[in-house]
Amino acid sequence: MKANQERIEQHIELLNRFTSTPGQGVTRLTYSKEDLQARNFIKEKMIEYGLEVSEDGFGNIFGKLEGTSPDKPSVIVGSHFDSVPNGGAYDGTAGVVVGLEVAALFKENNVQPTYPLEIIALVEEEGSRFGGGLMGSRGMMGMLSDEDFKKLADKDGVLAEDAMLTIGLDPLKKKVRDHETIRAFLELHIEQGPILEEKGIQVGIVESIVGLTQLEVTVQGQAGHAGTTPMNRRSDALVSAAQIIGDLPELATSIGEGTVITTGRLNVYPNGANVIPDKVTFTIDIRAGKEENILEAVRRTNERIATGQEKGIHISVEEMLYIQPKFLDENIRSILKETSDALEITNCNMQSGAGHDAMVLSDFTACGMVFIPSKDGLSHCPEEWSDASDLAAGTNILFETVKRLMEEETS
Ligand code: GLV
Ligand code: MN
Ligand code: MN
Repeated sequence: MKANQERIEQHIELLNRFTSTPGQGVTRLTYSKEDLQARNFIKEKMIEYGLEVSEDGFGNIFGKLEGTSPDKPSVIVGSHFDSVPNGGAYDGTAGVVVGLEVAALFKENNVQPTYPLEIIALVEEEGSRFGGGLMGSRGMMGMLSDEDFKKLADKDGVLAEDAMLTIGLDPLKKKVRDHETIRAFLELHIEQGPILEEKGIQVGIVESIVGLTQLEVTVQGQAGHAGTTPMNRRSDALVSAAQIIGDLPELATSIGEGTVITTGRLNVYPNGANVIPDKVTFTIDIRAGKEENILEAVRRTNERIATGQEKGIHISVEEMLYIQPKFLDENIRSILKETSDALEITNCNMQSGAGHDAMVLSDFTACGMVFIPSKDGLSHCPEEWSDASDLAAGTNILFETVKRLMEEETS
């Protein structure tokens, strides 16, 4: 029996309801009311498909189907279930829904896994609430110290730990997972770009994921009256920030080879129309396929920032995330290709320009990713859309690949 396209579509729609911005895309921030609603839905479905549900000390959700031989490491399938502000219904959610569908196929086809199968729904991949991104996977793999986690707060100063407690999660639960308990990680994700749609290809098999870094810049100036402070007596934090931000596109272009730089978040203080801003914080997201280009972009960005330190302006930079470009597992890539071909699903190799939890997990276990087409290449916006038939095709590939991985011996 094959993936149930209608059920997949229905699950996407049902999860889509859990947004704090109805009618304006999906906004599901980590540890929010909408997180709790989506979490309850995912756990309910996991139980329905015969999985044993647990959560770790970050609130990552696991649904486990025990394997026939005890003590074997798990084959994990899933993605994240948080969103960007006013994002779409598929980024992350598609991979979680497909994970649930893989579990449903195991149950409906009465397949006894040899290795345990785990479906996973990860928190805070986007970093939309606590910054940086990939928090659930970094935390789970021991890449985020307890001390650093305890310091994480959102833009209103709410600590991550307190936010967890608010929705009934327990930050004292075990956080770090023993790497030896994982056999492989598979993630389906929407492409978030135009290539598959343009080429008319059903799935992309991801070869590599771009490296990325995220900087948080704080510009400190002096507040003052907008009407009475002469132009030559100002230390305007926003003007300094804007000048730096305005230079970044050219900086990225001069490095080239697909290097991209984005400022997507900016906060102005005190944010009054007639007050000279005394403080601005903003993010700089830098990505490139080659690590040397990321490092060069960071170097030039810091150089540009240093020239902004003048006339009562002080600028500090904090690195929120740094992650090298990653290659995904060759063996899994060839199994994904073979299963796609056997199922007569058109496929091609792809590079990912977006970050994914697989780039964290790939340091510890064999990882594979499958992309499906995004309508008009749009993502991180309410218009994000993918066809349920492609989600179903992707599910079938993952279902077969999981079974193949369970037949192979652990290396
Ligand atoms: C996640 O969507 C990212 O690429 O930042
Ligand atoms: Mn995203
Ligand atoms: Mn995503």
